[in-house]
Amino acid sequence: MPDTLSKSFIVALAGQKGGSGKTTTALNLADAWHAQGLKVLLVDTDPQGTAQTWRDVMEEHDERGPTVVSMSKGFHHDIEQLAAAYDRVIIDCPPGENTIQRAAIMIADLTILPCGPGATDIWSMAETFELIRRARMLDPSLKASVLITRKVSNTVIGDQAEEMFKSLEFPSFTTTLGYRVAFQESPNAGLGVVRYKPSGSAAREIKALVEEIETLYIKTTLQVAS
Ligand SMILES: Nc1ncnc2c1ncn2[C@@H]1O[C@H](COP(=O)(O)OP(=O)(O)O)[C@@H](O)[C@H]1O
Ligand SMILES: [Mg+2]
Repeated sequence: MPDTLSKSFIVALAGQKGGSGKTTTALNLADAWHAQGLKVLLVDTDPQGTAQTWRDVMEEHDERGPTVVSMSKGFHHDIEQLAAAYDRVIIDCPPGENTIQRAAIMIADLTILPCGPGATDIWSMAETFELIRRARMLDPSLKASVLITRKVSNTVIGDQAEEMFKSLEFPSFTTTLGYRVAFQESPNAGLGVVRYKPSGSAAREIKALVEEIETLYIKTTLQVAS
């Protein structure tokens, strides 16, 4: 378990495109950190309320899990005070809008940008990258990293797409999420993949992502702050 629990670390899942994996990544990070014994708050800012529904399903199954709150525009005014009681705060953003995404990016210690594995997926990130660029004009220290999702197992990403990811001005996580049924099935059990199928490939990937975030971003950020 991480030893720096005194300050909360805020992660935003952003991106204009629907279906890129924001909510899937948000639920699974929240569930994985909760399973490590950390106090986790998942903020559902999407009017579709998928994260909130996932929490309701969890309760129906008598499972314990992270705290989930639904919030809309203006949520950033409340979040700092709320966040103080948690080790990890995860903000799941709605697609196709700017206001909430901009606020989440500004408030987050790390913004994760899930992106499918193809060239067209990367092209569709242009508007989101512009949001990050503009946010960085206000705060140059903002951190953002691309997460490649829905990668088909046992194949490499096409050479061209791989080159495109490498040449982006934003880093990509070494960890990628494969196209896996466990990501689709686990919400219906009110779980993340780490608890749904602990020895499966999806669980391995989420644990690796947690480890990468802890090592690259959280340890340095929280040490600097303390
Ligand atoms: N790695 C994955 N493997 C298989 N299905 C996935 C994966 N990531 C997301 N999905 C599925 O794709 C759909 C959209 O994902 P979601 O996380 O809701 O995207 P977003 O929140 O960005 O709109 C969901 O049905 C989800 O189950
Ligand atoms: Mg979503």
